[in-house]
Amino acid sequence: MNKQLLNEFSNQINKEYYSAFLYLSMSNWLNEAGMPGAANWTYVQYQEELAHAENLFRYLQYRDEIVQLMKIDQPDKEWDSVLDVFKNVLSHEKKVTASINNLTTEAINASDHAARIFLEWYVSEQVEEEANASDLIHKFKMAGDNPNALLMLDSQLATRTFVAPVVPGVG
Ligand code: FEO
Repeated sequence: MNKQLLNEFSNQINKEYYSAFLYLSMSNWLNEAGMPGAANWTYVQYQEELAHAENLFRYLQYRDEIVQLMKIDQPDKEWDSVLDVFKNVLSHEKKVTASINNLTTEAINASDHAARIFLEWYVSEQVEEEANASDLIHKFKMAGDNPNALLMLDSQLATRTFVAPVVPGVG
């Protein structure tokens, strides 16, 4: 694999682990804030981000490359409200989308069509991640300060469970 592309893959692995830490931190805050359903939702997202990182790692190993593991930044630990949490989810996912798009462009520039095809799963996944965050922002805005609406929404988020994603091409 082209060295520049390999570096970008390593950076992406770091970003996915950072995403996992961010969601774990959000889950912590939401639990303390008395929103166990939203805490569950972000905890499941933490598990998803770990899977994103691990599948990138496994792909590089499959390509017989040495993965560079880097220091993971400390995530934020406080937010103003549950709505603020989900606004941050969306803005964070938009950054990840830009990063995945850049990585895909690197693969195209390197004429690494195998890597480009592998990354297609991540490109599609980002559409879903942004759509989920937008949907939750919309719902929390509608719930406003109404305790009944917030409790009902929180109990819906409590039903989310982790299903390990199947990422094609990792061997
Ligand atoms: Fe791995 Fe939320 O992007």
